[in-house]
Amino acid sequence: MFKPLIAAALAATAFAARAQGELVVYCGVQEEWCRPMVAAFEKATGIKVAMTRKSAGEVYAQLKAEAANPRADIWWGGTGDPHMQAAEEGLTEAYKSPRLAELQDWAVRQAEQSKYRTVGIYAGALGYSVNEAELKKRKLPEPKCWADLIKPAFKDEVQVANPNSSGTSYTMLATLVQLMGEDKAFDYLKALHRNVNQYTKSGAAPARAVATGETLAGITFQHDALIQALAGAPVKVVSPCEGTGYEIGSMSLVKGAKNMENAKKWYDWALSVEGQSVGAANKVSYQVPSNKAAPIPPQAPRLSELKLINYDFAKYGSSAERKRLLGRWDAEVSNLPK
Ligand code: F6P
Repeated sequence: MFKPLIAAALAATAFAARAQGELVVYCGVQEEWCRPMVAAFEKATGIKVAMTRKSAGEVYAQLKAEAANPRADIWWGGTGDPHMQAAEEGLTEAYKSPRLAELQDWAVRQAEQSKYRTVGIYAGALGYSVNEAELKKRKLPEPKCWADLIKPAFKDEVQVANPNSSGTSYTMLATLVQLMGEDKAFDYLKALHRNVNQYTKSGAAPARAVATGETLAGITFQHDALIQALAGAPVKVVSPCEGTGYEIGSMSLVKGAKNMENAKKWYDWALSVEGQSVGAANKVSYQVPSNKAAPIPPQAPRLSELKLINYDFAKYGSSAERKRLLGRWDAEVSNLPK
């Protein structure tokens, strides 16, 4: 006899939640940064956020699988290449935020190249880290170059993510191809495979493994390794001597989003100085923010001081190229015996 009452109460609660507003975010940065972003946005807008953290390749695959009935409203963070691929495949929605004028040129270029289906929110350089205490213990010289990581001294001592799931690792794949030429890059990746102890799912995991001494070296973005060093781990961050690539962390609206108006509110807020200050204020992000007026943490690697390649985001974010390179990696590298 109470059932109708309960049903009515439940319906009222659901209505209240809807009236207040909801938003489903797929978050592509580290969980430690996703959480304060969500809290700050909820506080600023009163909109309730449901957030899931996933690596960039995984979000791309999930958006594709959910295209007929999208679950997410916005994809915030993660390397730009899979965002570009999703844009090309029509999985994301074009939007010109009124805040575009506040952004660095590289962030706006990302928007232009994707016909405004994605936008740059931060940038960061690829590199690797090593556990200095372990190096000393084993009397090994400090590695400085990509070439050092394929030396026998690093047998089973390098960790890196799988480029299918991780945007970080795809950035490495595309970087090496641009740096060395494709065939030489694949020779390098095959040699590296002999030294890899584990292909992780998420891109930043190897930086944590270096910090604990679980692995001697880990290929990640430099800002992810820096977080470990700043936390006091005996970690040295290396910007490879041959040069390195970088990411333009991006954000996209999901095509057919059920909460599109709220998604646009997140989009504009995430491009504002307020939204772009959350990571640094919580000491969970050392990327360079795309809003020109957002503070850059003093410890953040200065991109202008690094030897960076001229990463071709249009080419390596294109659907055909990303599929082809990942297919080649699967066929020629991942299943090689050690
Ligand atoms: O938040 C750290 C970070 O390295 C971002 O800079 C980057 O966009 C993202 O994580 C990549 O994560 P994954 O390699 O797991 O896709």
